[in-house]
Amino acid sequence: MSDALVQARGLTKRFGDLAAVRGIDLDVPRGEVFGFLGPNGAGKSSAMRMIACVSPRSAGSLQVLGMDPDVDGPAIRARIGVVPQLDNLDVELTVRQNLEVYGRYFGLSRAQVRAKAAELLEFAQLTERAGDAVEPLSGGMKRRLTIARSLVNEPELLLLDEPTTGLDPQARHLLWDRLYRLKQRGVTQLITTHYMDEAEQLCDRLVVMDGGLIVAEGSPSDLIERYSTREVVELRFAPDAPRPDADELAAVADRVEQLPDRTLLYAADGEAALRAAHLAGVRPQGSLVRRSSLEDVFLRLTGRSLVD
Ligand SMILES: Nc1ncnc2c1ncn2[C@@H]1O[C@H](COP(=O)(O)OP(=O)(O)OP(=O)(O)O)[C@@H](O)[C@H]1O
Ligand SMILES: [Mg+2]
Repeated sequence: MSDALVQARGLTKRFGDLAAVRGIDLDVPRGEVFGFLGPNGAGKSSAMRMIACVSPRSAGSLQVLGMDPDVDGPAIRARIGVVPQLDNLDVELTVRQNLEVYGRYFGLSRAQVRAKAAELLEFAQLTERAGDAVEPLSGGMKRRLTIARSLVNEPELLLLDEPTTGLDPQARHLLWDRLYRLKQRGVTQLITTHYMDEAEQLCDRLVVMDGGLIVAEGSPSDLIERYSTREVVELRFAPDAPRPDADELAAVADRVEQLPDRTLLYAADGEAALRAAHLAGVRPQGSLVRRSSLEDVFLRLTGRSLVD
């Protein structure tokens, strides 16, 4: 037996003729925050749902907390927390009742449930809204309540499917802070996201998924070092202006990417590449030098942008 809380080999999910997850290998050790980064339809939720024991695998092997979801689903579910992609809170109940009902479901006594709900309301910064209905809460508050609910049974492993999609920057940062606190308490986390900044902020290690396959694996900084240059120059041209072709720019950068709205120059020293482009007669309308990100890694690996 390995120390991994989640171990998969050749894990596969098929829906009829469609292979949503096409034989992936995973090893997630205790205490790690592990990410699945990929665009819409990459297979992130399908992978998560197999690990959460809510969707049976089509092929391959899977161990969660050392057990097989096909055999030990209930025992695994008792020790994990699940935050699905779409909030499935009970809108008939108040904020506090959503936590209490869940706690009762996990077999806590009334007194335990009351104490746990109070603690989690505080953690989720929802104490003031405890007696309110769920419906009028903001998207960020609903997400925090769903996360609070997933913590009722003090899970060792927390599965978060797109925890911050659709939230404004302030709401996202508050959620990141809460997830960071959980990490410091030793809660192992699996997070899916198509936000590269979220993956960079939160994940110790991640897999980049595309079309049901893992196309790369590593820490955010490893991946950037392996698949990109230190810096990137973004050149913007007026819509009708002629753009230099990639051949013309090949001499000034390690790699050139032409996107519909921008030309990207990959180089260790972005300012130097920009100066060289100027000397070569390139006259963009605007330019920007920045550090490489996981977005650049994804573009390099798949030829496409993460968010379309
Ligand atoms: N229940 C289902 N029945 C049939 N096809 C499905 C089902 N669930 C997912 N799929 C398909 O499987 C593929 C992967 O979907 P999945 O939801 O796992 O992707 P995802 O990476 O989570 O995408 P998103 O970022 O949009 O949430 C898609 O082509 C999707 O249409
Ligand atoms: Mg999904």
